[in-house]
Amino acid sequence: MRKITNLNEGWRFLKADVPAETAAAYAVRGEAVTLPHTWNALDGQDGGNDYYRGRCWYVRELSAEEAAGERLFLEVNGAAMTAEVWFNGVKLARHEGGYSCFRVELTDRLSEKNILAISVSNEESDQVYPQKADFTFYGGLYRDVNLIAVPAEHFELLKDGTPGIKVTPVVDLENKRAVVTVETWHNAESVDITVNGETKSVERSAEFVIENVHLWDGLKDPYLYTAAAKLPSGDEVSTRFGCRVFACDPEKGFFLNGCSYPLRGVSRHQDLKGRGNALSVDDHKADMDIIRELGANTLRLAHYQHAQEFYDLCDENGIVVWAEIPYITMHMPKGRENTLSQMRELITQCYNHPCIAVWGLSNEITAASAVNEDLLENHRLLNELCHRMDPTRLTTMADVFMLEIDSPILEIPDINSYNLYFGWYLGELEQTDEFFDEYHAKYPERVIGFSEYGADANPAFHSSRPEKGDYTEEYQALYHEHMLRMIEARPWLWATHVWNLFDFAADGRDEGGKHGENQKGLVTFDRSLRKDAFYLYKAAWNKSEPFVHLCGKRYVNRCEEETEIKVYSNCAEVRLYVDDTPVGTLSGRTVFRFRIPLLGEHMIRAEAEGCSDVMCIRRVSEPDESYIFNKAAASVTNWFDADDIDPSCFSIQDTLGEIRSHPQAGAIVNAMMAKGASERGDVADAVKDNPALQRMMGRMTMLSLLKQGGADEESIKQLNRVLQGIKK
Ligand code: GCU
Repeated sequence: MRKITNLNEGWRFLKADVPAETAAAYAVRGEAVTLPHTWNALDGQDGGNDYYRGRCWYVRELSAEEAAGERLFLEVNGAAMTAEVWFNGVKLARHEGGYSCFRVELTDRLSEKNILAISVSNEESDQVYPQKADFTFYGGLYRDVNLIAVPAEHFELLKDGTPGIKVTPVVDLENKRAVVTVETWHNAESVDITVNGETKSVERSAEFVIENVHLWDGLKDPYLYTAAAKLPSGDEVSTRFGCRVFACDPEKGFFLNGCSYPLRGVSRHQDLKGRGNALSVDDHKADMDIIRELGANTLRLAHYQHAQEFYDLCDENGIVVWAEIPYITMHMPKGRENTLSQMRELITQCYNHPCIAVWGLSNEITAASAVNEDLLENHRLLNELCHRMDPTRLTTMADVFMLEIDSPILEIPDINSYNLYFGWYLGELEQTDEFFDEYHAKYPERVIGFSEYGADANPAFHSSRPEKGDYTEEYQALYHEHMLRMIEARPWLWATHVWNLFDFAADGRDEGGKHGENQKGLVTFDRSLRKDAFYLYKAAWNKSEPFVHLCGKRYVNRCEEETEIKVYSNCAEVRLYVDDTPVGTLSGRTVFRFRIPLLGEHMIRAEAEGCSDVMCIRRVSEPDESYIFNKAAASVTNWFDADDIDPSCFSIQDTLGEIRSHPQAGAIVNAMMAKGASERGDVADAVKDNPALQRMMGRMTMLSLLKQGGADEESIKQLNRVLQGIKK
C-alpha cells in the first residue's frame, strides 16, 4: 500500500542564490513559509515589469516518520521555472519546466537526519519556455509537494511524472460500446486491473469491453468511470476516465459523441489578485463555479499545463479543454528540447482526462520570430510527438493575427485557431468577420477556430459613446456583442475562446488605470466583480435558470437628456420600469435596448420570468471625469470636429491607403511611420513584412492609426495641418 505524505508545511524560504552546499545552513535564517508559495505574489502584479526573477531556496527537514518507507519518492507538482533537488547535500535531480509534476527517488540517500533543499529559479533563460509573453512568470513552489512511500515492487513514478496507468477508451457509438485498454508501468511480475467491476490479472495491460456504455457527454452528463490497478506488493493506483468521441468538421465545426457541439468558451490563467499562482483547491473550485455560471462548454487552459485538480474539475463538470505548453511568442533555437520535454510531460500526466480534446503546440510563436526552418521543424517534431504519444487527440496551435493565412506553419497541426484583436489593438470589429470569411473561402477543407479575442475594460470607466481603446465597460460589452453575433453566424468555427475569463497579472503592463494587469477579463482579477460583458455570454450560453442583468450599474452619473438602458437576459421578453412606472417591453434574444429620458435620479428595474434587476442612475450637468481613462485621447476626439477639415485636401480622416496614393502626402506619412516603427523593434518588423497586415492598415484612417500608436494630440494636429496643405 503506498503512503502519500503532504509536505506543504514547515519550509524555510531563502530569497537568495546561495551555493547549494550552504543552502541548508542559510535557510535557518529564511522565512517560514507554507506551500503553495510564490515569491512574486505582490511584485508580480503591481506593474513596472520589475518582479523578482532569480534563484531561491526552499529547505525543510524530513522527520523520521515522514522518511519511513521501503522506497521513498519526492513529488513536486509545480516548481517555476527550473528546479534542482538536493537531499542531504547531494544533487539528485534538475527539472526544467514550471508547470508539470516531477518526482525523484530519495531512498538511497536517506540518513539519520534528512535535509531537503530545493532551488527554484525564474531567471531568464534561452532554453526554458516561457521567456517572452503577456503574463507574469511567477517563481516558486506554487503547488503541493508530497512524499510517496511505496513497496519495493511499485508502479512507475519517475518517467515524465507518469501516473503509472494509462487508459484509452475507444467508443463505438452505433453499438453503444466502448473498448477500454488499460496499460500500466511497474516492476512486478503481474498486476490486477479493474474496470467497471471486472478484474483481470495480467503482466502489463488489459482490454475491457463496456456494453451500453455511459458516455462522458459534456455539460449534460460528464459520466466518469474508474480504472484501478493493484500489484501483489499492495501498491495500487487508479484514475478516472470518460468514454466520448470528439470530432472536427471544416464546415460543421466540433462534434461530441456524434452530435454538433460548437465549443464556445473562455481562457483562464492560473493566478489570483494578491496570491500569484499559488492557488488552493478551493480557488480552483471557485473559478469553476464562475465558469459554470457563465455557461461556457469549453476552456482554453492557457498558456501552460494547469494543476491536475483543475483538469479534474473540467472532467467532473463536462468542460472540453484545450491544453497546451508554453511555447509562446518568441522561438528560441536552444529551446527545442524543452518544448519536447514539456509536451511529453503534459501528455503523460494529462492523457487520462476525458475533458482534454486537443494538444496546443504553440501560441503566437511568430509574433516575434520569423517562420524559419528551425521553427517549422520544432513544430513538426512536437506534432509528431503528440501523435506518437496520443493518436486519439488532435493537435492545434494559436496563431497571431499577423501570421499570413498561407504560411506553411498552418499545415503542421491537425487544426488551427487564430488570435484576433481587430476592434481593440487595431482595425475595426468587422475585420474579424472578413478575416474568417476570407480564410474559410480560401481553405474550405481546413478546420479553423477563434482562440483569442477580447478588449480591456476597467469597471471604473464608462461612456455613452464608447470607442476602441477607452477601457470602458461599455466598449468591452459592444465589442463582445459584435463577436458573439460574428461567432453565431459561423458554426464552422470549431472552438471560440474569449481572452480572458479573468483579469490576470502581466507585470509589464501599465494601462487602463491599472498597473500590472491585463484587463480583458469578463471578471476582475480578485473575482469580486463580473463586468457587463460576462452577462452577455451568460445570457447566450446559460439557459439553466432565467435571469436579467441591467448593464451600466457603475455608470451612475450620466450627462445626457436621454440614455440607453441595455439589458442582457436569457429570457425572450424583458419589461423595464423607471421609478416603478412601466416604460416598455421588448421581445428578443440576449440583448435588449431601451432608451429613456433622464430628468433626475431614477430607479431602474428590469423584469423577466419572475426575476429582476435594479439600479440607480442620475442625470448630471457635467461629464463625470472619473469615468474617463484616457483624457488625452478623449480630448483628441473632442477637439477634432469634421467642420475643421477641408475635404478637397488630405487629412487624418483619410485612410492610410488614400494618403499613400498621393506621392507627396504618402511620403510624409511613410516618414512618420518609419520613425514610429524604429521605436518598436521586432513587432514593427513583423508588421512591415506582413502584406496582409499592411493591407489592413491601409484601410484604417490615419487618426485611428495614430491613436492606436499612442500619438499625442499635438503631433496629430501637426500632421493634420500638413496634410490639409495638400490638394487631393
Ligand atoms: C495575445 C496573447 C495573450 C495576451 C493577449 C493580449 O493574443 O496570446 O497571451 O494576453 O494577446 O494582448 O491580451
